Amino acid sequence: MRKVTLEMLYTHPIVQKYVGRSGIAHAISVAERAFEIARHTSVNPDLAAKAGLLHDIGHYKWYSTNGEWDFDKYKQYDIHAIKGSARAHKLLVRCGEDLENAKAIALAILLHTDSYLPKGELELSPLQQVVTEADEADEEPNGAHHYRTINYQTGLDRIRALDERIDKLPLKDLEQTS
Ligand SMILES: [Fe+2]
Repeated sequence: MRKVTLEMLYTHPIVQKYVGRSGIAHAISVAERAFEIARHTSVNPDLAAKAGLLHDIGHYKWYSTNGEWDFDKYKQYDIHAIKGSARAHKLLVRCGEDLENAKAIALAILLHTDSYLPKGELELSPLQQVVTEADEADEEPNGAHHYRTINYQTGLDRIRALDERIDKLPLKDLEQTS
């Protein structure tokens, strides 16, 4: 039995506020994609979906000059993965998530992008790899994926459907934490 469901996260005001800034539609798609990729690997689909849903919770400012996304400024100043990792961790722990899971999700969020890191190769764990892949698969040119919209109820229906699929998985599939 999972202590925290995707529905608990999706309906949480913190998620609606902060994930809302970078696009709930994108977050739900990444959760679904991460679940699908994880299902065919040894990665825990519950952690993959949660990290997918929360991966952009750290976006706190749009680096725009005229309302348009400024990718150069973003590249230069962005730390959303650092901020998101801490924010997601706090939220998960407050919601009652298993502490090992909360750490694994926080680390997957921290490393889902290299936008704030010096150049170099990162050795990602399988879970971190899944979240990165799911995010990249959902990206659109010029950050358009951040502007896709979805209404609250449609999003909730998709999140509930994902929860149901996770709950049907054998318990052993939900044990992996990296
Ligand atoms: Fe993203």
